[in-house]
Amino acid sequence: MPRDWGWWTEQKLDILSDYLAAFTTASTRAGTTVYLDLFAGQPENVSRERSGHIIRGSARRALDTSPPFTVLKFFELSNNAAALDRTLRGEYPDRNFQVVPGDCNQAIDQVLHDLRPLNWAPTFAFLDQQSTEVKWTTLERLAGHKRANKPKVELWLLCASGLLPRGLRLRQAMVDDDVADQMTLMFGTTQWHDALIATREQRLSGAQFRDELTNLMRWRLERDLGYKSTRVFKIKNTGGSEIFDMIFATDHAVGDKIMKSVYSKAMKRQGALQERARQQRKQSREEKDGYVGLFDVDEVMPTQTRGFTVHTEDVPARPPYRRVDRE
Ligand SMILES: C[S@@+](CC[C@H](N)C(=O)[O-])C[C@H]1O[C@@H](n2cnc3c(N)ncnc32)[C@H](O)[C@@H]1O
Repeated sequence: MPRDWGWWTEQKLDILSDYLAAFTTASTRAGTTVYLDLFAGQPENVSRERSGHIIRGSARRALDTSPPFTVLKFFELSNNAAALDRTLRGEYPDRNFQVVPGDCNQAIDQVLHDLRPLNWAPTFAFLDQQSTEVKWTTLERLAGHKRANKPKVELWLLCASGLLPRGLRLRQAMVDDDVADQMTLMFGTTQWHDALIATREQRLSGAQFRDELTNLMRWRLERDLGYKSTRVFKIKNTGGSEIFDMIFATDHAVGDKIMKSVYSKAMKRQGALQERARQQRKQSREEKDGYVGLFDVDEVMPTQTRGFTVHTEDVPARPPYRRVDRE
């Protein structure tokens, strides 16, 4: 079954396409480029808002990148991997790619071992998890893959800061221990507990807690894994609520500059996409109620942004929140 996706997913994937094209263009002189997709997904995804509209997933977008990547590795759970492999083999019979079945956190060691002869080549890793599937140890391995004198593997990671509080049952009497354990494995530390406690004691707001989660991930990428810079794009839904943040980590000033410009291009598109989704929602409600839509929603342009804000972080991460009694 194709998965149905909101417009914000397409927006995320459009950022990916834009950045990958710039990445391989900027790496032309290297002659070899590597793409790692740790959560490669299903062959097909349909848009929730636009009926029949197929959203090309990350694997196809990476394979479509021009100039092309030389080597591509797609990780996906075993129950989806065979179908993904079959579809991609049919569409891209001559490309050098591998679909790696199973948990990416386990499979990563072997794949990086196989890629050791290419540990000098520009390498980009997309970590498009659903919530907290990636483990910190996997981020460490990716960051440690390249030769010492080369920029580290670039990472583009989904950090589900907007969704995790609900999964945690933040406002209920007991937090969900399983989700909390998964978060600790993802952050590689229990440091986020300080912000959790402060939020439950109402010393931090929900928005501050979400912000602390993203900041902690950036801080760890910068301070513990040694990335020179990280950059965030906040993805919001039609109602303007934050759902997840996309964190980019790079050692390369050029990479950072390109992602900054890709993010700002995406920001310009975001208002129109959000407004179109609103109009589509309104139209389908009216049609359900017996009214026919008065206009083609695809032609609707935003009349206003309704306080819609997008942040791109241009400053380094700050030290994570700490309880005073810990000092
Ligand atoms: C958000 S979807 C990825 C979508 C994909 N990037 C795309 O553009 O089509 C997350 C995917 O990760 C897969 N997944 C979940 N846990 C995983 C794991 N531990 N290792 C590898 N894949 C995993 C799921 O089966 C799902 O297809």
